[in-house]
Amino acid sequence: MARNRDFKGLPAEFEDRLGRRIRIRAYEKADYRALKEMYDDFEPKTVACGLPPADRQTRTKWVRHMASGFLNVLAFYRGRIVGHSALDLACPTGCPEFLLFIRDGFRDCGIGSCMLAVMKGIAEESGSERIVLTVRAANAQAIRAFRKIGFVSCGGDEAQKDMELCFTKSRPRRQKPPGGSGRR
Ligand SMILES: CC(C)(COP(=O)(O)OP(=O)(O)OC[C@H]1O[C@@H](n2cnc3c(N)ncnc32)[C@H](O)[C@@H]1OP(=O)(O)O)[C@@H](O)C(=O)NCCC(=O)NCCS
Repeated sequence: MARNRDFKGLPAEFEDRLGRRIRIRAYEKADYRALKEMYDDFEPKTVACGLPPADRQTRTKWVRHMASGFLNVLAFYRGRIVGHSALDLACPTGCPEFLLFIRDGFRDCGIGSCMLAVMKGIAEESGSERIVLTVRAANAQAIRAFRKIGFVSCGGDEAQKDMELCFTKSRPRRQKPPGGSGRR
């Protein structure tokens, strides 16, 4: 697997819809405390299928698990973390799970869409066949952002939707054997 900092397109900077300069870069070990703080402050808790966990201990475990095992990308405004996205690239299935959380006050400003584009590039570059996520069926904002980048529904029920983003790999074209039509 490529190291966090080696991905094309990172670090990146852009202006959000309110003209704020947002910097996007790969997570580093020194970011752990700030990431934990983002989730301690995050509201509403449990908004995304029980995440971020409301219970402090469970939340700490969850952040530690992502920080140590996932590919993490952060969005910053004036040195403060305002967005976090993660991909479980080490999953054995080749179809990593995807997470995206934007801090209250920074939502609906294009930051999520920008991070989605970055993560899509990373997943593709890492050779994933597809990435998957689960979202509450009532979370219209998230579903809109995911659909825009190419996610489609692939299951779920009335309460939650499973979505996937597939990467089509071009197959090598079959060559005709010399001197024949190729048919037997
Ligand atoms: C869902 C989330 C990640 C999206 O990130 P974001 O930065 O807010 O999203 P963007 O601003 O890039 O795009 C949101 C899109 O949804 C649209 N939108 C906003 N509110 C909406 C609503 N109630 N219904 C439908 N679409 C809505 C916006 O218009 C925008 O589309 P556009 O670019 O075509 O105008 C972010 O809002 C968030 O962290 N929410 C809480 C946590 C969560 O739900 N995470 C997802 C589960 S993994």
